[in-house]
Amino acid sequence: MSKKQLKIAVVGLGYVGFPLALEFAGKGIEVVGIEIDSDRLKDITNRRSYITDITSLELKAALARGNFKASANFSDIKEADAVFICVPTPLKGRNLPDISFIKNAVKAVSLHIKKGALVVLESTTYPGTTEEEILPIFQKRGLKHGRDFYLCFSPERIDPGNKKFPIHRIPKVVGGISPEATRMGESLYRIIIKQVVPVSSCRCAETVKLLENTFRLINIGLIDELSMMAHKMRIDIWEVVRAAATKPFGFMPFYPGPGVGGHCIPKDPLYLYWKAKSFGFNSRFIKLASDIINHMPEYTVKRIEEALSSHAKKLKGARILVLGVTYKKDVKDLRQSPGIEVIRALRKRGAVVCYSDPFIPFLKLNDIDLRSVVLSNQNIKMFDCILIAADHSSVDYKGLLKSAKLIFDSRNVFKGIHKEKVERL
Ligand SMILES: NC(=O)c1ccc[n+]([C@@H]2O[C@H](COP(=O)([O-])OP(=O)(O)OC[C@H]3O[C@@H](n4cnc5c(N)ncnc54)[C@H](O)[C@@H]3O)[C@@H](O)[C@H]2O)c1
Repeated sequence: MSKKQLKIAVVGLGYVGFPLALEFAGKGIEVVGIEIDSDRLKDITNRRSYITDITSLELKAALARGNFKASANFSDIKEADAVFICVPTPLKGRNLPDISFIKNAVKAVSLHIKKGALVVLESTTYPGTTEEEILPIFQKRGLKHGRDFYLCFSPERIDPGNKKFPIHRIPKVVGGISPEATRMGESLYRIIIKQVVPVSSCRCAETVKLLENTFRLINIGLIDELSMMAHKMRIDIWEVVRAAATKPFGFMPFYPGPGVGGHCIPKDPLYLYWKAKSFGFNSRFIKLASDIINHMPEYTVKRIEEALSSHAKKLKGARILVLGVTYKKDVKDLRQSPGIEVIRALRKRGAVVCYSDPFIPFLKLNDIDLRSVVLSNQNIKMFDCILIAADHSSVDYKGLLKSAKLIFDSRNVFKGIHKEKVERL
């Protein structure tokens, strides 16, 4: 089949699904995106992108070409040769995997799928999900793998906000229920991605993603712990990492922070942890790293308290501005953001907390209702301490340094600057 005749569907137009859909559309393929969030659908209709990695201009261009549309109606997938599922996989209760979004999406797909189409799950999940949970949904409807449909798992590895590595530059791992399914997945991804890495099974492909994110979790946990240790020992951990990173092999730099957020690192390893438990295996590394990282917002507050105290100020009643509340720099994603955790912890200790973030004009959560403060010199001077929680590129840090009374820099924005008013994590 030629590219021009190919039709694909992407279920879930979020941080993962939306760029994927536009990437295929950019190659001239007819793409329908299925989305249940009416606000997101409205934004698409109004040609407004809600994701940092897609500009509204790019969305406008895709809509103008006429080969991309968004819909809430699953019957729109009935002509698709391939369906990519990119729905959320959060945690529920006591850190348990919640794969209900996947199951609901797959049930709806199984009602409308075209005979012989390929279904690819891209949502991050525990090993065995595709084979044990997804395959039976199709089978229960009397559909046979290899005749009526094909099934693969392919982990999404995007790094939102990272301009150096857009989708097409990130090698794609794919593993199918059968070698034929893997081959189909491989040839589809080759349309948009240079390097495709086939593996022997869905289970392997699922575990690849969890290895990658567990590797990050554990290394972040390690450097967070070392940063707390280094502070006690009066060693500058940032300088240590910078120098260690000059080793050309066997070392990869990780940096401490006020915690870890987003829809990946804090929760993906817990999917693996849970699944391993069902095999009677206790992953001590995952548990330890999660515990250390979860402690970082509290630790950040403790360090802010110390910094204020050395400026003869008490935390209770202090006016604190949290600069950057998204989970990392240059994205507008608030999910599991450590900045929010720090705001809560500071408030609990009696501090008066405001925030400023170029990506988040209003912060409306259950317990927080704030408006972003404009970073004028006059406003900056009103605060006893400014915590840099996310180091967005567009902020005028020079101006901040000039006007602030005290800065708690949890991201090493003021690298190499040693001033009494700058305290580093
Ligand atoms: N955000 C990342 O950086 C990232 C990176 C790699 C992998 N992942 C994984 O990819 C998956 C998706 O993450 P995301 O960040 O794109 O989430 P997201 O919440 O931004 O997007 C998911 C979208 O799916 C929609 N949705 C939910 N159920 C649906 C259904 N039944 N039908 C149609 N649409 C539905 C939601 O409304 C939402 O818009 C998760 O498993 C995540 O762990 C995320």
